[in-house]
Amino acid sequence: METTHRVVTGDARELTSLPDESVELVVTSPPYPLIEMWDELFARLDPKVEELLEAGAGREAFEAMHAQLDRVWAEVERVLVDGGIACINVGDATRTLDDSFRVYSNHARVLEAFESLGFDPLPDILWRKPTNSAAKFMGSGMLPPNAYVTLEHEYILVCRKGGDRRSFPPGYDERYEAAYFWEERNRWFTDLWTDVMGELQSLEEVDGSDLRERSAAYPLEIPYRLIAMYSVYGDTVLDPFWGTGTTTLAAMCAGRHSVGYELEEAFVSLFDEHVDTVPKLSGAIARRRLERHRRFVEEAARDGPDLDYRSTHYDVPVVTQMERDIQLYDVDCVTRIDDGYRLEHAPYTPATPALED
Ligand SMILES: C[S@@+](CC[C@H](N)C(=O)[O-])C[C@H]1O[C@@H](n2cnc3c(N)ncnc32)[C@H](O)[C@@H]1O
Repeated sequence: METTHRVVTGDARELTSLPDESVELVVTSPPYPLIEMWDELFARLDPKVEELLEAGAGREAFEAMHAQLDRVWAEVERVLVDGGIACINVGDATRTLDDSFRVYSNHARVLEAFESLGFDPLPDILWRKPTNSAAKFMGSGMLPPNAYVTLEHEYILVCRKGGDRRSFPPGYDERYEAAYFWEERNRWFTDLWTDVMGELQSLEEVDGSDLRERSAAYPLEIPYRLIAMYSVYGDTVLDPFWGTGTTTLAAMCAGRHSVGYELEEAFVSLFDEHVDTVPKLSGAIARRRLERHRRFVEEAARDGPDLDYRSTHYDVPVVTQMERDIQLYDVDCVTRIDDGYRLEHAPYTPATPALED
């Protein structure tokens, strides 16, 4: 199997290189309005933002920032196929402006934008971030009533364009090959993810770089799960706010095509320095999935569901008929092409060294 991964250094408010209805899944995390680290970027996208912030006009600045994101969401609507899904990772902001502390509800505003574009919201996911417990309280410390709870979660909004997806790429028996194990389904399709931070973070685990801190990158586990949940082999995943390229990395490991847009050239170059570690990472992920399944099988034998079927490609039993043809892939080889990468994937066989669990 071969996949391509394109990275465009450019502005996602106009996804000019993408035709209408050309991607099956969007997985992304925008800059969060009213989080200070993104003030400068929003002011570059719309100079009015700086004036509004200086004037302490929080509500108006919030709207001006979201107006820039709205333009990207309109492009997302254009390029998604019918039945395609957009997964938006977003956190709310707390901010004091004009002496007034409040929450700016980014997740609600983004959801409103998708609804007004005609998307159907599906149940969303909350995931828990780690926080430093010493800094847990805000406001008046131990004195009621003027203390505020700390935001320790982010949202993954899941919105579908049109009804259920009915068309799939030709050539693979994708839906069955791309199925997930029964116990993965139980862990992934829950609305509260408390286990993300214990999972794989990114290339740095294999490579030791500090690239992620500089762009508010999300853990690799997030796009990897979402891609496995909402797309099949042969699909294309778009990230219009590419950052350090975590979504592309996940798509590479999951065997989907991808395309990303990013304003900052520096992130695109940094990704390139690390891309050669993808074969190792992809093998480690596949191996971990299979090892976890084997552990589940051991536990199920004592106290779990019946394992009435046998996997076609791996020497393990499975719970349902739908899991029988699961085929994991790992990356054999990465080739640089004009505007990105072409990858060769081979069916995974359990010989690659595991990651620490
Ligand atoms: C929250 S970060 C994304 C982090 C990413 N998920 C990761 O794991 O590295 C948002 C990114 O969007 C980029 N960005 C913001 N507005 C953009 C636009 N209009 N077009 C393209 N990229 C944009 C920023 O430069 C930033 O790198």
